[in-house]
Amino acid sequence: MAQLTRIRLAEGHRATPRRIAVGCLDAESVQRPRGSSAVVDAVDLLSKRKDWRAARGRYVEMASSSGHVVSLHGLGEGTDLTFAVLAQWLQGVVNDAANAGFKSCTIVLPSHPLTRGRVSAQAILRTIALCAYRFHDYHSSAEPPALTSVQLQTPPSSLAVYRKERRAAEAVAAGTALARDLGNTPPNRATPAWIASRARALARRHDMKVQVLGPRELARRGMGGILAVGGGSAATPRMVKMQWGSTGPLVALVGKGVTFDTGGISIKPATDMDEMKYDKCGACTVLGIGDAVARAELPVRLRLYLPLAENMPSAKAYRPGDIVRCYNGKTVEVLNTDAEGRLLLADALAWAATDKPEHLLEYSTLTGAAVVALGESGGALFSPSNDLAAGLLQAAGEAEERLWRMPLWPEFKEQMKGNHADLKNAGGRWGGACTAAAFLSHFVDDHPSWAHLDIAGPAMRKDPKGASGYGVASTFRWLSSLEGASSDR
Ligand code: BES
Ligand code: MN
Ligand code: ZN
Repeated sequence: MAQLTRIRLAEGHRATPRRIAVGCLDAESVQRPRGSSAVVDAVDLLSKRKDWRAARGRYVEMASSSGHVVSLHGLGEGTDLTFAVLAQWLQGVVNDAANAGFKSCTIVLPSHPLTRGRVSAQAILRTIALCAYRFHDYHSSAEPPALTSVQLQTPPSSLAVYRKERRAAEAVAAGTALARDLGNTPPNRATPAWIASRARALARRHDMKVQVLGPRELARRGMGGILAVGGGSAATPRMVKMQWGSTGPLVALVGKGVTFDTGGISIKPATDMDEMKYDKCGACTVLGIGDAVARAELPVRLRLYLPLAENMPSAKAYRPGDIVRCYNGKTVEVLNTDAEGRLLLADALAWAATDKPEHLLEYSTLTGAAVVALGESGGALFSPSNDLAAGLLQAAGEAEERLWRMPLWPEFKEQMKGNHADLKNAGGRWGGACTAAAFLSHFVDDHPSWAHLDIAGPAMRKDPKGASGYGVASTFRWLSSLEGASSDR
């Protein structure tokens, strides 16, 4: 399972040779490392070199008299600095140090609004903790990463802030790593029953209540959506409900857990079909949020719902034309078995709504149309509540995850009405992300503070390829900001 980088915030250098990387902004004085004078001398020498400028991508290095390798890294103008540039630099330093065989390295942050204050401290600490993340469970000869710890030198006045944010950042990093591990696990292992067993393990660790419904119990409760989707697979469906926390606002989180999406009878083309193992990433994000919140002991009450099923074509598979009845009694005419996510989410959302949570959030790799609209870097946010939307957008900004609001216009909701049933599961050619969201809105019992996050784009990354854990960090920030959850941000 995932390895996180240990972060030390104490001052001074150890005697063992190490890499010391100093981030530098153009036209600003170079931060001098605290501690060993040999290292400070090396930094002074480097910063006086004629070929040195702190333009982005520039780099100079030398060995200090004490045997450390000291380097200056240009990050460009302070006014142009973005978090993405910082994050890329941090990852590069850690990779280089690891490749050179160092066990540890020192990173000296430049002083800048993006490196000062609580929000920045949390984002930077989380980013560093995740620098060593790899998914090597299935490489038969993977070596553990050489570099296991980073000593971080914060801007002079920010050390206390970093110390304070460290626990939350480590909790978010661990939750994100959990979401990635689960998302990356291949579909021959990560069946609905296996994800349910991982949920049980998480519940044991954090003293959560957990309930797992199998096919018989799903039928008894009238959850016809998830049963239809999972019907074609030998790996039968599960619905997991978890509960954590005893004080603070009640928040329900629902995550799409399609462990593999072939499209079913409306089968997908072969190209890149392997990527449909990431169709469980909504459920993985929800488990990652639960892990992070429990580790940090945020004062919120969580209810987590994971509808888990595999969408396969077979003699037992559901078909276009079928009509199924969901948990809230509404009937749905299946027009396309590849629009399966909304069917199992219908049952889970309707069940979650009966808890009467203060907020009801749902995460799913729901539509290719969301990726067409926004690309692969950001999620699509749908919510009838301006307050909830504003809160989630702000939290996403603070967590450095991209999120963009999309409309829930009444015509979309209208468009999902069925011919021979209350609803149909596919709304036609245009506005696919919006019609999918509108479909879901029929199952939340008119909850005033409900949100759907279509994470089909950002749930998976190309380089290095794998699950991203998208949504854990921003949801954690949003939960920390809730009234009654935290007075001090
Ligand atoms: N899991 C897919 C959506 C998806 C597509 C996620 C690409 C990640 C990358 C979903 O179940 C699906 O197949 N949606 C269909 C809906 C359509 C049939 C109405 C789609 O987006 O094409
Ligand atoms: Mn599908
Ligand atoms: Zn799907």
